[in-house]
This record gives sequence, structure tokens and C-alpha cells, in this order.
Amino acid sequence: MTQLNRLQLQAFRNAENLSCRLSSGMNLFIGDNAAGKTSLIEAIWLLATGRSFRSRQITHLIQHQHTETVIFAELQSHLEPQQTYRIGMQRSVQKMTLRLNGENVRAQSEIAQQLPVQLLTPESHRLLEEGPKARRQFIDWGCFYQFPEFISLWRQHKRLLKQRNHALKKRLPAMQIQLWDAQLVETSLQIDQLRRQYLEFLMPFIEQYCQALMPELEQAINSSYRAGWPKSAESLQQLMHDNLHNDIQKGHTQYGAHRADVRFKFGTFEALQALSRGQQKLFVCALMLAQAQLHQQVTNEPSIMLIDDLPAELDHFHRDKLMQLLSDLKIQHIVTSTAQDLIPITNPKNAQAWQIENGVLKPLQI
Ligand SMILES: Nc1ncnc2c1ncn2[C@@H]1O[C@H](COP(=O)(O)OP(=O)(O)O)[C@@H](O)[C@H]1O
Ligand SMILES: [Mg+2]
Repeated sequence: MTQLNRLQLQAFRNAENLSCRLSSGMNLFIGDNAAGKTSLIEAIWLLATGRSFRSRQITHLIQHQHTETVIFAELQSHLEPQQTYRIGMQRSVQKMTLRLNGENVRAQSEIAQQLPVQLLTPESHRLLEEGPKARRQFIDWGCFYQFPEFISLWRQHKRLLKQRNHALKKRLPAMQIQLWDAQLVETSLQIDQLRRQYLEFLMPFIEQYCQALMPELEQAINSSYRAGWPKSAESLQQLMHDNLHNDIQKGHTQYGAHRADVRFKFGTFEALQALSRGQQKLFVCALMLAQAQLHQQVTNEPSIMLIDDLPAELDHFHRDKLMQLLSDLKIQHIVTSTAQDLIPITNPKNAQAWQIENGVLKPLQI
């Protein structure tokens, strides 16, 4: 299975030199406030995605008084259990180096391909509240792993969009702006098709996990997907053509795959209206579990679930339920909490726990 065998952090936030061997099931990190729990989750997420979920500035991540940080992980694949991958990221203010099995790697996506991680934090319910970007990222996570062609389409779209937006901002002649339209339409349509397909695959799993976590909900869940341009439009190309003046005024391209969104509804109500705060958190858990299960079915490689500050998310009953569902999925999960007794260990044979204090780990009995 895809699992982290080993993790090592050097000069990452408050961890001077942290190292651990992880179990293939549950990995629990217990610590008081400011012990370094979120930093540990953040480091794994950074290694996998190239981004932090709480800071855009690399200087925040490098330990004070240091000039660089190193994150290293050893990974094992489910398909080839004898094969291990060594992944390293070294970052200073000026430079980032990525390595895979001793070789330099240029694209973060090569690392992401080997390290499919999912993230739940106390802020995850924002997925429902905030703008469409987070929901696009949610869908695109799945498309990236499910459809090998997705990443190049997405990159191409981003590049074309940048060029068209540049032309709009510079107020170049219409012809030079419209130069990009045909290709942008093409990438938009292709990305749209993959996103729709992914969502169609995913919905039954979302239903199943909503039922498991919130059996009290009576209304059926359904999704409403928006492509990034109005359904009523006859063709995207025509729409872009007709909207040129508006685009010039705004200085960016208003229609296309970069504007897609997906909303979830229970009965006729948007998730945000239909669900209590607690249920919203559970719903986001259901989304992640659904993705994990579909991912495993399609790729035969389980994903890895990172859960920061689990008790802040859920009550006792739902914590147990979530841990049980994760254990049933047989995916590696890395969980942080302020107290050990808040987290049930469903399968002690496949679990490990540590105390974390000031960025230093001590093994705990479970
Ligand atoms: N660049 C840094 N260098 C040194 N310490 C840092 C750095 N960034 C954050 N910290 C400290 O690391 C500690 C751990 O924070 P965090 O991981 O959020 O803890 P927890 O999630 O356990 O509450 C905090 O005390 C914070 O001040
Ligand atoms: Mg924290």
C-alpha cells in the first residue's frame, strides 16, 4: 500500500531534527498547544503538494536561525511492496530542490504522483463556505490521480489563460487576445468532461459515507456541477467572443474551466443551509473518505489521510465512527490530538502513538 515508512524533518518550524518510523495503519501524535502537531502534518502536506496550508512564505517554515529546511520520507508502494521510494525536499529562501530516489526532480507533480495525501483540519469545513477554488481543488485532486491526461490539460489551460489574461491587461488588439480562444475552449471542454466523469464516479461513495456518518439525514444528496460558463451558452467559443469587451474591462477571462465549481445539496437546500456546523464537518469527512475509497479502487494504491486536531472536529460518537471507517478502508492515517484518550484505537496491532513536545517525539504505549 502507499504508506510512509519513515519521516524526517530538519529545521522545520519548531522541529530541529525529528524522525519516526510510521505504522501502515493509525499513527497518533499527542501534544499540547504549540507542541508541533500541525507542523508535522504541514510538512507531509508540503512534501506531497509543494504548498503549505497555513503559510505562503517559506521563511515561516524554516526554523528561526536556520537557512534551510529538509523534509525526507521513505515510501512503500502497495503494488510493488519490495520497492521503496525516497522523497526529499530541501528548501531555502532562494532555492527548492526535490529529489526522488536520489535523482533531482523538476515537477512537484512527480512527487505528488507517488504520494497521494488527503487533508482534514479544523478549517476543512471552509470547503463549503468559501469560494469555488477549494472545491475545484477537491475535484481536481481526484482527476489528477484518476486520469493520466488531466495534469497536462490543466497545465496547458493555465498557460493559455495566463497568456490571454496578459493580453487583456495590456489591452492588446482583439486579434491578439482571441488568438488563444480556440485552444482555451478545447482545454476547457476536455477538463470539464473529466471533472464531470470524476464526480459521477464519486457521488455513490459520497452517499455511502454520508449515510454512515449521518444516518439521521433524510434528504437525498445531490451535486450541482458548474462548468465555468453558463449552461445556456450555445458554444463557449461564441460566448468568449461576445464577452470580449467585458473581459477587457475586467482584465481577465471570465469563462472557462478555471471558473468551475461544484455545490452539494441535500434535497433542495445547499449543504451550508441544510447542515448544522457539526454536520458540515462530518460532510467534509464524508467527501474525503469517498475520495479515498474511489482512489483506492481505481489506482489500487491507497491514499494517506492526514487529520490535524481530530477532537476539535468531532464528538465522541463520530470520532469512533470515523476511526472505524478509516480502519475499514485500510489506509494509513496520521492523526494529531491534544489527548490520547480522545482517540479510539480500533486496531492496536497496526497503530503507533507518540508524544510530541517542542518538536521532539517520544513513543507512547497504546
Ligand atoms: N519558523 C519557526 N521556527 C521556530 N519555531 C516555529 C517556527 N514557526 C512556528 N514555530 C513554533 O512552532 C510551534 C509549533 O506550532 P504548531 O505546529 O502550530 O503546534 P500545535 O499544532 O501542536 O499546536 C509554535 O510554538 C510556533 O511558535
Ligand atoms: Mg495545531
